[in-house]
This record gives sequence, C-alpha cells and structure tokens, in this order.
Amino acid sequence: MTGQAKIEQLFLKQFNYQNAVVCHAPGRVNIIGDHTDYNDGFVLPAAINYGTTIAAAKRDDDIIRVYAHDCEQQVDQFKLSEIEFEPHLMWSNYVRGTLKVLMEHGAQIGGADIAVTGNVPQGAGLSSSASFEVAILKTFATLYQLELSGIVAAQLGQQAENEFVGCNCGIMDQLISAMGKDQHAMMLDCKDLSFEDAPIPQGLSLFIVNSNVKRGLVDSEYNLRRQQCEQVAKYFGVPALRDVTLAQLQGAQADIDDALFKRARHVISENIRVKAALSALKSSDIATLSRLMKASHQSLRDDFEVTTKELDGLVQIIDNEIGLSGGVRMTGGGFGGCVVAIVPTSMIEQLTTTVIRQYPLEYGLKPSIYLCHASQGAFRA
Ligand code: GLA
Repeated sequence: MTGQAKIEQLFLKQFNYQNAVVCHAPGRVNIIGDHTDYNDGFVLPAAINYGTTIAAAKRDDDIIRVYAHDCEQQVDQFKLSEIEFEPHLMWSNYVRGTLKVLMEHGAQIGGADIAVTGNVPQGAGLSSSASFEVAILKTFATLYQLELSGIVAAQLGQQAENEFVGCNCGIMDQLISAMGKDQHAMMLDCKDLSFEDAPIPQGLSLFIVNSNVKRGLVDSEYNLRRQQCEQVAKYFGVPALRDVTLAQLQGAQADIDDALFKRARHVISENIRVKAALSALKSSDIATLSRLMKASHQSLRDDFEVTTKELDGLVQIIDNEIGLSGGVRMTGGGFGGCVVAIVPTSMIEQLTTTVIRQYPLEYGLKPSIYLCHASQGAFRA
C-alpha cells in the first residue's frame, strides 16, 4: 500500500467519511553545520525520504479533531478559539502551537478532521517534530487556500516550537522540511535566509545510523549551549557569533572563560567548514568533504561537547571503512541520536554488515540504519 492509500484508509476508519486531502513533509539530515543556525550562521542539510503524512478535511465549525496513528494516546480534540498547551498530550502541542501561530499570523482558517502518520524515528535527531509542524502548515494552506511561502511556513513552525512547545531551536529543521529539493542538499544562510541548492554527486548515498542511545538532557544542554554562544557574542558587542572572526576570538582568549571560548571556536570554525563543504559538494571533491566532516565531528566532540562515546565510536567504525571516499559525522543536536555518512552507493552493503557486527560488540546497543536520498520539501514547487 502506498503512503497515500494508507493514510486515506486511516482517515476513513477514524472519521467514517472520505475525500480528505493528503499532505506530506519530510524530516531532515544535516550534512554539516551543527549548532550554527541559532548563531545566524550556515548549515548544509538535506530533506530525507522519511516524513509525516497527513490526511485532512475541512469542517464547518472551529473544532479540530486529530488522530495520531503512531502515538499511544491517539486522539485529541480542541477548538481553534480556545487553544491551550496540553501537558498530558505532548504530540498534540505541535498541532496546537502551529495552528495558534498560524492564526496570529493572520490566516483565516476553520476546523478540520486530521489523521497523521509518520516514519521519522522520534528523538533521533532527524526532525520528526519539524516535519510534523510543516506538514500541519501545508495541510491548512491546502485546505484553506492560504498563500504561505516555504520561508514563512518555516518561521511559523520555528515560532510554534520556541513559544508554544518550549524548545529554543533554530530555523534549519523547519526550513529544509519546507524547502528541500529532490537530490540536493541546501546551504542556508540563517541570517538572511538566502539559500543555494547543491546536488548530491552521482553514485553517493546518505547512510544514516541511529546510535539508539537514549537522549538525556537534550533540551537543558541545548539551551545552555545557546546561552553560552550568546554570552560570547555579547562580549564582542555583536548580535550573533556569525559576526565574530577566528582571529578576533583568538585575540580575546585571555579574557574569555575556557568553556565559552571552545563553544565559540566550534561555531566560528563550523561556519567556515560549511562554506568549504558547499564548494566541495559542487565540484564532487569527496576527499575534501570527508576531511571537513571529520573536523566538524571533532569540533562537536572536543569544543562543543555534544557527542557521546557511542556517536564517536560509530563515526570511527564508518570512517575506518570509507576513508576519503566518503564523509561521516554526528548530525543534529547531539547527546545521542544519529550519525550521517555520505558514501559511495557501492559500499553500502559492506558498510551495513560492518556496522551491524561491530557496533553492538563495542557498545552493547543495536544500531538502526536508514538509507536515505535527498527529497523534496513540502512547500517546494
Ligand atoms: C536541533 C535544532 C536545530 C539545530 C540543531 C543543531 O536539530 O532543532 O535548530 O540547532 O539542533 O544544529
């Protein structure tokens, strides 16, 4: 059964009628550029062929009924005029928050019946929540014929997450879910939201491995890192670390606390690596991309301190196999979750065997492997 047929059937079973519209928004993997987005910096993600799919139909009142097929408590109902945070139904807050900010933005919407299913693993750093927010926005844009650009949709999704759900994330995840391009990664400038698509070179695949480490302290540590970056920007009297150079940072080392210095060094050097990685991708210079991804991982491990021993180990296992013919690093916020590798498609079988054999031996955990290709965002024409 196709994804479309499955969600239509779920909708019919839940609501007892048909004729729903079907919308989809992808998750993402970040090839390079982590913890740079909220510093007004550069990122290089791709949307992936895992995402959130929704079937929905308009109602004549202002009631929202939602059926979330993959969640334990599957059903929620609320009125658009009375949207509150629901502490006992976390998944529903993505719907509630997104619709609240959409209405505050001035969109004229009414009620809807909604069925949702998704296959982005939750808590793995592949943006299941951003794909959910963007899928809801795409659904309402379709049902109520809203003129919503991909950039505005991404901003609304981020706003819902920051102001309603309570996670202080940057814009990368929502933007790539909305605006990703088939077979391409995207270099995004998070300061002015300009972007450039970069083709994934022929013969290479995105090989993603979930360490399956239960992520702890993600929100608190994430927010702490963000504050530390803001503190250094403040020291230099600039809005964000994007505006500080490595030379300036080094010149002020004696004045800056050691941990803060390292956080800033990661962000500033990562921005340089993202731009270099874009050139490497565009010229199919995989050896250079490989070195940049390795340096990014080391910087996230030693300076930003967001990796785990399992992520470091997985990177090592994959790096030993691929050498300079591909690149590998942790991806996303860190503290568990996934590593991303960009590897020759011809090596995938061998790589899969090695990871499945070696990772459990060394770390006592089973890896999950996702073979991905860069996919189209929900708002990309
Ligand atoms: C999470 C956030 C993003 C970004 C990454 C780290 O995925 O949602 O905005 O900050 O972490 O690069």
